[in-house]
Amino acid sequence: MSRYLLFAACVAGLLLSLGLALHSTVWIWPALLFGVLTAVGLGDLLQRKATLRRNYPLLAHFRYGFEAIRPEIRQYFIEDDLAEVPFSREQRALVYQRSKGVMDVVPFGSAHDPYGVDYEWINHSMVPRHAESHDFRVAIGGTAATRYQASVLNISAMSFGSLSANAIRALNAGARRGGFFHDTGEGSISSYHREHGGDLVWEIGSGYFGCRDDSGRFDATRFKDNACDPQVKMIELKLSQGAKPGKGGMLPAAKVTEEIAKARGIPVGKDCLSPAAHPEFSTPLGMLEFMARLRELSGGKPTGFKLAVGHPWEWFGVAKAMQESGIVPDFIVVDGAEGGTGAAPAEFINHVGLPMHEALMLVHNTLVGLDLRDRVRIGAAGKVTGAFEVARTLAMGADWCNAARAFMFALGCIQSRTCHNDHCPTGVATQDPKRWRALDVEDKATRVFNYHQNTLRALRDLLGAAGLEHPSQIGPEHILRRVSPTEVRSLASLYRFVKPGELLDHIPEHRVFQQFWAQSRSDSFHAPVRVAAMREAKRH
Ligand SMILES: Cc1cc2nc3c(=O)[nH]c(=O)nc-3n(C[C@H](O)[C@H](O)[C@H](O)COP(=O)(O)O)c2cc1C
Repeated sequence: MSRYLLFAACVAGLLLSLGLALHSTVWIWPALLFGVLTAVGLGDLLQRKATLRRNYPLLAHFRYGFEAIRPEIRQYFIEDDLAEVPFSREQRALVYQRSKGVMDVVPFGSAHDPYGVDYEWINHSMVPRHAESHDFRVAIGGTAATRYQASVLNISAMSFGSLSANAIRALNAGARRGGFFHDTGEGSISSYHREHGGDLVWEIGSGYFGCRDDSGRFDATRFKDNACDPQVKMIELKLSQGAKPGKGGMLPAAKVTEEIAKARGIPVGKDCLSPAAHPEFSTPLGMLEFMARLRELSGGKPTGFKLAVGHPWEWFGVAKAMQESGIVPDFIVVDGAEGGTGAAPAEFINHVGLPMHEALMLVHNTLVGLDLRDRVRIGAAGKVTGAFEVARTLAMGADWCNAARAFMFALGCIQSRTCHNDHCPTGVATQDPKRWRALDVEDKATRVFNYHQNTLRALRDLLGAAGLEHPSQIGPEHILRRVSPTEVRSLASLYRFVKPGELLDHIPEHRVFQQFWAQSRSDSFHAPVRVAAMREAKRH
């Protein structure tokens, strides 16, 4: 209620000064002032464009006021535009501009230091190209009937529950208009996902929401019902996510509302557990067999899994299981440790799992080495906001990118980092109806659509400058990184790229493969003997 305090005070001030003005004309001036403020507050409450103003009538203007002078204050006293917390102001501003369709050009010159270590760029060509369309697609799996033509930029998994009803509606409506997919997140398919009919990737986490029996185990009949819905284009088995891999979750009884219970297929008002590990399998081969079962039950829709890479021998075990069994996912989504979440313990957010670049390289290299790369498409997520990040991720081996927080910015998220306490000021990551009702679905759907469109246009222009016409043509030789004040390397020379089929012949000269490939097993996630022996050494 404190949100309305200033507005209420102005209304009270207006009434009081009007009353006093009956006795003395001097009170007309305060009445006028309070009148104007009350009118502005009313305007805030009634307008639909700015969620913040609806949620914080009058008060929000202080934010806009401070925002207006922020560049000056920051320039003189505080941080620079490139400080990542976790997204820099520059990154967010780009999404805001592209989603509002306002000018996204930069005046005067770059704020980046081209001589600083880690500075990256794409080399341009003497013969630039211009692709006719920016609607870049990648064909994923399935038979001709079920193959999915995915955009190269899509909405990463975020559940209804972590995001509000109106946020889900706006994301899905934007995805529908732009022809890209909207990943449901592990909270399954809610009624809000269905209203606008945008393409869905249905994510199945360890809680099997939307396809579980009363004891929380996988229920094939329930799975089939949802999976066969034509709006569901692909099935994604979630093994882990970058921000909190290996961490299960408990949705407390109080948060299990009727709507959430209905979407997830769980009882209302009872604690709901997402175990850390999947109860349906315990070996790499078992995981692939389960995934193959999902594919079959879905009628052959493209089916794959999402993972944040941890122990290399576990990933290698999965790759060996593909090679030995012939069960191959249609796609793998690689999530980096830099990924986001609604809430996770600090240690998990900051110190668990491989960042996206290393994880992507490992997955890509393994599939190339096994000659499986043409059968498995790779998606990648990890702080993608602008077209350069998309281009770099594709250059490193991905076929498409998913973005979660960039699409939250398109919805109006201001990085207040309150997703965990239900106080999201922009109505994006909250279940408080008083907050999320202020998020205007139509307006924000347009922003989601615009952000996607304008980013792909920028990607087309970037590729064109490099002499390319399609993202599939970009490779690690196109991206350069400064590694010291006097040395610049292309990604092609920085990373070791395994040759097609190399793993079938010998173990590549690559440290991780040398250390773990030989001993990794398709029938066990356990650490190889040599690793276990290091552990044992402590006890002697
Ligand atoms: C609010 C929020 C909720 C998320 N929920 C899920 C989820 O249900 N399942 C999942 O696999 N990943 C989830 N993620 C992770 C994202 O899908 C994504 O993989 C990660 O944030 C990296 O993308 P980004 O850097 O573009 O945000 C969530 C992320 C956020 C920010």
